Amino acid sequence: MTWRASVLTLFPEMFPGPLGLSLAGKALRDGRWALEALDIRGFATDRHRSVDDTPFGGGAGMVMRPDVVDAALGAAIAAQPAARRIYLTPRGRLLDQALVRELAAGPGVILLCGRYEGVDQRVIEARELEEVSAGDVVLSGGEVAAILLLDACVRLLPGVMGAADSATEESHGPEGLLEYPHYTRPAEWQGRTVPEVLLSGHHAEVAKWRRARAEEATRTRRPDLWAKHLNRNAGEGGRLD
Ligand code: ADE
Repeated sequence: MTWRASVLTLFPEMFPGPLGLSLAGKALRDGRWALEALDIRGFATDRHRSVDDTPFGGGAGMVMRPDVVDAALGAAIAAQPAARRIYLTPRGRLLDQALVRELAAGPGVILLCGRYEGVDQRVIEARELEEVSAGDVVLSGGEVAAILLLDACVRLLPGVMGAADSATEESHGPEGLLEYPHYTRPAEWQGRTVPEVLLSGHHAEVAKWRRARAEEATRTRRPDLWAKHLNRNAGEGGRLD
């Protein structure tokens, strides 16, 4: 079965956007995944096609109406009852590669993109949406976060990445480390050379060097990931040092 993404948005013209190009675009044309952008405004019922209203309790901005969002979600869920239902919001759990792997392994996703101040809380609860954030930043809407999530999922789908571009030795891979640095020709550029060991042809030494650089990068740049990595290894009988 084709992995399927339904995106509920007020800006359907933002899709496929960058997902129509490069790796994800080719996979889309090859039928390895399917994308449908549903216009939430199409589910508005009043004369003005209104999708939002002022917040109860006062304050700035507008809130997306639960009835309109619910109708859009109902249509997406009817077409894809087994899909994970995700609302993209800076209030959500942070997206990480573990969640991306889970989503890519499933039948597909329904992604609700908020605009304005967000969506009425009741529809989030009634439809049991998982709230997911693309990072500790505030975007102008969930669409760019949805594109980010889909890009990360699609590259993991069977047949999308070639063997040369394997997902096993990359940042946030199974080991929970950042990746080692890369070098290509020329061997000297602007007076800068390539680490000797990479030119040596000693595969075991290269692997050792890369492992050390991956650990160093993780420890210095992402102490949070480093702590998790150490914990995981401790759990597997490794030492904490
Ligand atoms: N909408 C606005 N900011 C967002 C974020 N950081 N993640 C997901 N959706 C968003």
